Amino acid sequence: MTNDSARSAVALAYHERTKHHLKAFAAGPETLDWDAQPSPFRRFEGAPVERLPLSADQVETRWNEFFVPGAITAAPLDRASLGALLEASFAIAAWKSSGPDRWAVRCNPSSGNLHPTEVYLLVRGVAGLANGLYHYAVDEHALELRAAQGAVHSESVATQVFVGLSSIQWREAWKYGERAFRYCQLDVGHALGALRYAAAALGWSARVAHERSTALVAEMLGLNRAADFSGVEAEEPECLIELGAAGLPRESEPELATWLSGAAWYGHANRLDAYPMYRWPVIGEAARVSRSEVAPTLPNGRGPRAAVAYELPPAPGASKAATRLLRQRRSAQGFDRKASQSQESLFRMVQALLRPSSVPEDTWQLPPRVHPLLFVHRVDGLEPGAYALLRNAPGRTALQSLFATSGSWTKPTQCPDTIPLFQLVARDLTTALRTVCCGQELARSCTFGVAFLAELELAVQEDPASYRRLHQEAGLLGQILYLEAEVEGLRGTGIGCFFDDLCLELLGASDRRLRPIYHFVVGVPILDSRIQTEPAYPSHAALPQLEP
Ligand SMILES: Cc1cc2nc3c(=O)[nH]c(=O)nc-3n(C[C@H](O)[C@H](O)[C@H](O)COP(=O)(O)O)c2cc1C
Repeated sequence: MTNDSARSAVALAYHERTKHHLKAFAAGPETLDWDAQPSPFRRFEGAPVERLPLSADQVETRWNEFFVPGAITAAPLDRASLGALLEASFAIAAWKSSGPDRWAVRCNPSSGNLHPTEVYLLVRGVAGLANGLYHYAVDEHALELRAAQGAVHSESVATQVFVGLSSIQWREAWKYGERAFRYCQLDVGHALGALRYAAAALGWSARVAHERSTALVAEMLGLNRAADFSGVEAEEPECLIELGAAGLPRESEPELATWLSGAAWYGHANRLDAYPMYRWPVIGEAARVSRSEVAPTLPNGRGPRAAVAYELPPAPGASKAATRLLRQRRSAQGFDRKASQSQESLFRMVQALLRPSSVPEDTWQLPPRVHPLLFVHRVDGLEPGAYALLRNAPGRTALQSLFATSGSWTKPTQCPDTIPLFQLVARDLTTALRTVCCGQELARSCTFGVAFLAELELAVQEDPASYRRLHQEAGLLGQILYLEAEVEGLRGTGIGCFFDDLCLELLGASDRRLRPIYHFVVGVPILDSRIQTEPAYPSHAALPQLEP
């Protein structure tokens, strides 16, 4: 067995052992002490702190401008615009309270609101900021200087910014045990989407630097500095995203690797959980084998961004301010089980999963390997049942073989030609989907749900790092649905808790080439009037703040 095939086997074995089954859930803690939840806020004690302005409200981009090439004028890359970028992607969106409980919600969603994803900025040549590495302190909307490299902005240094992501796996493992690695990866995918939308609102590109190995990411984010993390929870390197504004030159790989050489380092990571009660070593194994060592092949000829052809009327919220929509995104806690949605709104939402060269999918660049299977419950004019959405030719082949005997493959009569959506099964699947989603009522009362099916075995056997990538791709698609739901005046919720094998079994699917790795539900939300909302950063200077 080669090293790669041994790593692939470990990743696939991890997936298998972390499945939820009707007879038993994946291994997790037997008791939870909510008062001992790991802190959701990492800080680097001793690192200089620089507060960022809350400037997202000043960004005038409208949602529909995302899809019109050239419609958004690029903002200058400076301290204020980086503040707006982080505010609209990873910041606290509001504090919520109910009785004695108080918790923060953020622009990016997270499984269990546990937020394992940490965010870094690598900055060079940006007005108002010293060159170097910064950690984003979400609780204060501030940057902590981890490594300073040279002087503040000078005209002679080319401007360049990378965003780096890492996962503190213990935050998820504390609640979810062995399955937590999957949730961390789904959260990274959501984070990529959150970042891409916010960058687009500022007129910037944001490209996942798939060619940078996990070891390089660790080095660039200072995550391999063992002394700075001694005695505290480690951070697993995930990826770098290169921001681009018009006219920025591209950096070469060797130069990036030496970017921080000789830098002055600051800070020691804080401890998030003083008394961890459990250990889940398979998470470390899954992380180790799925680190990226070789760059995946990027397809040629993506071509420039093209305007998206709409045969459908625009969504009700399409002309709203983009940064408002990004900050008002929330997960639905409950749906009106009698309400329906129009078929135009469903067609618009699924069309948004079919735009590889457009925001936010253009951040990803790799060919689709995750294929949506829709469970339509109550959509006006559409027969309830299961529908396949074909994102590319391999997806079509895989779905066709999966439903070779059980699928009817009928195109809904009103569905635009540009949307390859096919009905496979005509029946009420409301109760079935609720069962699949571990009995969660949201999956029955939604207007439609989605199972994201991944080419799991094939992709992971080709490259074990695909185990992360597939989950990240699914998370990115989930983030699209969250935002598209807001634009439609609906609401979505990611569903990480599902019985893995049941979904396809219930539909009589005949082959296991595709595996569900994530679910998502959309519907007409019921708001919980007991939950109070407070501003995100009450201690910041009196700047206008959103009241979601
Ligand atoms: C990967 C992932 C899995 C999730 N799984 C579930 C789930 O199974 N059930 C549920 O009710 N919510 C689920 N959620 C929603 C989170 O609970 C929600 O994002 C979190 O509480 C933060 O709230 P917000 O999305 O309003 O910011 C999931 C979210 C993500 C990103």
